[in-house]
Amino acid sequence: MNNMAKTITILGIESSCDDTAAAVVRLCEGDQPLIMASKIFCQETLHSKFGGVVPEIAARAHAEKLDYIVEDALKTSNLDLKDLDAIAVTAGPGLIGGVISGVMCAKGLAAGANKPLIGINHLAGHALTPRLTDSVEFPYLMLLISGGHCQFLIVKSAVNFQRLGATIDDAPGEAFDKVARLLSLPQPGGPAIQVSAQTGNSKAYKFPRPLLDRDGCNMSFSGLKTAVLRARNKLVDEQGGLFKKDQSDISASFQEAICDVLYEKTRRALATYLEAAPNNPVISVSGGVASNILIRQRLSNLAKENSVQFIAPPINLCTDNAAMIAWAGLEHFRLGITDDMYLKARPRWPLDQSASPIIGHGKKGPKS
Ligand code: KG4
Ligand code: ZN
Repeated sequence: MNNMAKTITILGIESSCDDTAAAVVRLCEGDQPLIMASKIFCQETLHSKFGGVVPEIAARAHAEKLDYIVEDALKTSNLDLKDLDAIAVTAGPGLIGGVISGVMCAKGLAAGANKPLIGINHLAGHALTPRLTDSVEFPYLMLLISGGHCQFLIVKSAVNFQRLGATIDDAPGEAFDKVARLLSLPQPGGPAIQVSAQTGNSKAYKFPRPLLDRDGCNMSFSGLKTAVLRARNKLVDEQGGLFKKDQSDISASFQEAICDVLYEKTRRALATYLEAAPNNPVISVSGGVASNILIRQRLSNLAKENSVQFIAPPINLCTDNAAMIAWAGLEHFRLGITDDMYLKARPRWPLDQSASPIIGHGKKGPKS
């Protein structure tokens, strides 16, 4: 063993939505990255009775849990704060109360232990995950699909992302969650719809495939959700409510529509990407919705049809976690990029700052 090999160890902290998470990732030069600990406190039960994430409840729970979860991650790694090279934290985009809780916690730890602080864009965490799990080289194409985000990116470096297209309204995760609510299925909606769809007929309902008739790889999911609302209301009017079969058929038909849209738009994004980077034929997917089995299958087929490598990280690294933040921190650290105590928590933080705003992003500018 080479004792001179350089080792970098980073603590990552994530609190931008409803998961309080801390992780330690280590890279020993020449080796695969190692996730030494990855801890998550999921706030699901705190929010479930409200049918969605309540920002104030989330922020308070993050503030209460962060210290414990960091301690737990360090204990599992058998490390002390002094053994770390830096502390990375999600500094946006996300629910601002939670992001502030994480940034304050990281600032306190960094100041107390005299360690560098690194603010990470949550979306960069998702987008860089294939390098943590599969050591993929830059550049690569990434489809980032989560509860709040949906975009195609050419990942050129740890700090250079080119957006090829994005949703003009809802994110697919948002659509899964809203449709689950319409069908009286539990939250988060994605996994619930996936299970319900297993016994359903995906051809029972003809839901729209929005924006497929338009060029490019922008997407839209809000019309699909409205079509589901209409189908469900019709059933309620006709038969007084939904049977289990109706739930399954709608779930399967909705999931199929999402898959069709993602397949076709990814096909187009891939063509654009391959023109720009013919020597790196890689497509990857990340974010909570990337844990959907059917979506993974369809994208994997698309990759096969185009002789392109397909990378889908394990499900626990697709949904929100702190290992991806620690890893993104590690990538920044080795580029010499760190922050200081003026690091700001940002509710909105586009990954590709040069991309023109997508219509429908609201008054305050693009979130991502
Ligand atoms: O990346 P993530 O954990 O948090 C955000 O940054 O948004 O994604 C959460 C989203 C939720 O909308 C959830 O319903 C969706 O990912 N999701 C799924 C599945 N598992 C989680 N959507 C479809 N199928 C799944 N199996
Ligand atoms: Zn996320």
